[in-house]
Parts: sequence; structure tokens; C-alpha cells
Amino acid sequence: MMPVRTLRLGALLALAALHAAAGAQTTGPDLAKAKNCMACHSVEAKLVGPSYQSVAQRYGSEAGAADKLATSIRKGSVRKWGAIPMPAQNAVNDDEAQKLAQWILSLKP
Ligand code: HEC
Repeated sequence: MMPVRTLRLGALLALAALHAAAGAQTTGPDLAKAKNCMACHSVEAKLVGPSYQSVAQRYGSEAGAADKLATSIRKGSVRKWGAIPMPAQNAVNDDEAQKLAQWILSLKP
């Protein structure tokens, strides 16, 4: 039979793992990775889509910029940056879109 102390340690480790999983998507960069944004974007360089720094530079000082970008993320974006459209990001909810938009705006160089 397993000693009680070993069981407790196991429970603690399980809790720690759960906590780590729940916290994994809370930061902008982690969320962007988890939602596959980085397949088309990078912070500094243009890939398929514009770099997040250039997005921040364009909208950074506009009132309501975060809401505007959150809408672009949720609904998609066409012809603001070039010929390639961004499809609506259906795996992102409103809260996540806000968080991503605020993170992107914080990257203004
Ligand atoms: C399939 C490639 C692709 C993926 C995946 C993608 N994007 Fe984009 N994104 C683009 C392209 C292309 C544009 C430029 C669209 C345009 O010209 O209007 C863009 C534009 C943007 C803009 C600027 C919108 C505006 O109003 O000017 C933001 C912000 C953005 N993406 C954030 C994200 C975030 C956050 C994610 C992940 C949830 C994401 N993108 C996933 C390709 C992508």
C-alpha cells in the first residue's frame, strides 16, 4: 500500500499541473501561439500578414484601437494591408480577441 505522504505529493503535483495548464493561455504571446496566429504573423517581420509591430504603429494612438483590432481578429480583415485577406478567427472568443488586440498594441516600437 502507498504511504499517505506519497499520495499527498501526487495530489499536489496533479494540482500544479492543472494550474500550469489553466495559466498557459493567459499571456498575449502564449495565446497567439495557442490560437495559431503565429502561423501568419510575427512580432517584428511581415509573414503572410503584417508584423504586430507595424499593426501597433498604425493603430497605436487611435481611440478604440483595441476594439477595432479585436473585431478584425474575430471577423477577419480585408485589404487593409495588402491583397491577402485574414480569415475570421473562429477559435477566438471576445475576451481572447481583446487580450490579443491589447497585447499587439503594446508592441509599438
Ligand atoms: C491565414 C493567415 C493568418 C492567420 C492564421 C492570422 N492572421 Fe492576422 N492577418 C493576416 C493577413 C493576411 C492580414 C492582413 C489583412 C488585410 O490586409 O486586411 C492580417 C491582419 C491582422 C491584423 C490587422 C487587422 C486590421 O484591422 O488592420 C491583426 C490585428 C491580426 N491580423 C491579428 C491576428 C491574430 C490575433 C491572429 C490569431 C488569432 C491572426 N491574426 C491569425 C493573416 C492571418
